[in-house]
Amino acid sequence: MAGSTRTPPVDFVVVSNRLPVDAKPGADGEQQWVTSPGGLVAALQPVMAGREAAWVGWPGLADTPLETFSLDRTHYVPVSMSEREVAEHYEGMSNATIWPLYHDVIVAPQFHRDWWETYRVVNQRFAEAAAAVASEGGFVWVQDYQLQLVPQMLRVLRPDLRIGYFHHIPFPSSELFGQLPWRQEILHGLLGADVVGFQRAVDASNMRQAVRRNVGYSMKKPIVRVPLDARVPRDPDSPPVTASKTREVRVDVFPISLDQAAIVELATTDSVRARATAIREELGQPGTVFLGVDRLDYTKGISHRLKAFGELLAEGTLEASDAVFVQLASPSRERVESYRQLRDDIELQVGRINGEFGHLGRPAIVYLHQNISRDEMMALYLACDVMVVTPLRDGMNLVAKEFVSARTDNKGVLVLSEFTGAADELDQALMVNPHDIDGMKEAFVQAANMSPDEASTRMAALRATVEEHDVRRWATSFLDAVTPPRPKPRR
Ligand code: G6P
Repeated sequence: MAGSTRTPPVDFVVVSNRLPVDAKPGADGEQQWVTSPGGLVAALQPVMAGREAAWVGWPGLADTPLETFSLDRTHYVPVSMSEREVAEHYEGMSNATIWPLYHDVIVAPQFHRDWWETYRVVNQRFAEAAAAVASEGGFVWVQDYQLQLVPQMLRVLRPDLRIGYFHHIPFPSSELFGQLPWRQEILHGLLGADVVGFQRAVDASNMRQAVRRNVGYSMKKPIVRVPLDARVPRDPDSPPVTASKTREVRVDVFPISLDQAAIVELATTDSVRARATAIREELGQPGTVFLGVDRLDYTKGISHRLKAFGELLAEGTLEASDAVFVQLASPSRERVESYRQLRDDIELQVGRINGEFGHLGRPAIVYLHQNISRDEMMALYLACDVMVVTPLRDGMNLVAKEFVSARTDNKGVLVLSEFTGAADELDQALMVNPHDIDGMKEAFVQAANMSPDEASTRMAALRATVEEHDVRRWATSFLDAVTPPRPKPRR
């Protein structure tokens, strides 16, 4: 990894709140880099591979200015945040206001004017960092809800650029979005892009509806016509602006995916296969292994699925000597109060179920609150019989797609919440409403008892879907939507 203080101008720039690697101080005081959590990074990494590009993002530590460094042909540009900015931009506005609001208020969003001010300041810093590394007429691709103001800020700084924004999480109904005291500013920020991309058709349509209600721009699906001199606040009832004084913003659907070939390669290595066999042995060769793999987040519906599993044990439909639930919950946003509370709740629930139904050396739920390696994750996918992906709301959920990609043996059953973006594509999964505990119990039993023929037919169809909608196709379709380049204005 080569360190330097300057990055040459590049024509492909990704901006995300997090860099794909987090800085961690090592035991010896040396800076170490570890892969950051979450689906965004997993999806974008293959798109960046082999390109001359820059990636602008926060390295995960407060008050630690770091130098730009390069790896292969990607230049990583760290954006620093103070302790207060981490608390107010990242933990506050991003993850205690926008995240819960956009995930259907599963927990109550908090609205604080100080957080909003810091969100603006930090968004401006990201915009400036991107503006400094993008070449004339280059493409900047802004990612996700932490940076919704960056597209417009960047347009002001660098009108020559082509700007894309992709939203990885749900975009809420306009009623919920309307709760945001800064709803006009957010829409103004997003509409600074040439293309605003969403996971599902309903997300794109929710945003267009929010635009109609809150700023009243004219539109013809999927195009929104934004006045060249757009300002906030704007009266949504003011007359539409003539077409010559507007620019077009495409608000459309681009469901994200993953690099199936790379996952197949990893999942078919001898060591991963051997580890999968060893995992089943370590679990005591149970009849059915259920698996959940999530960041520890209240949107993931972990407690709902454990409740369903616990009830099946209580009724005797499942027996802890024969069925085990492996729940991996990777640590996430641990200083945000709702996440602390969630951890306590889940760990209490796991303890209760294990206390009541486990046997010596055979817990009913094997719960891990830790990060595990990609290899171990693949081995778990291969070791399980039933993969349980039951979020209450999720933009896409790449775990569902990863599991499917890893199962080259066409075995294993996917139980999938209808409230994930993935449900729009993976229709051969056993679909559940995670709020319907009885429905989920039925699906668990159906999955555990499914005939090998049916499981294999379903898995083959799921695999074909994921293979066809590869992450490269996602990136290409987004980039095609942003091109052809607009004529370069004189600067
Ligand atoms: C989700 C979000 C990403 C985020 C990731 C991890 O996938 O869409 O933007 O990076 O979670 O969350 P964190 O707060 O650790 O960055």
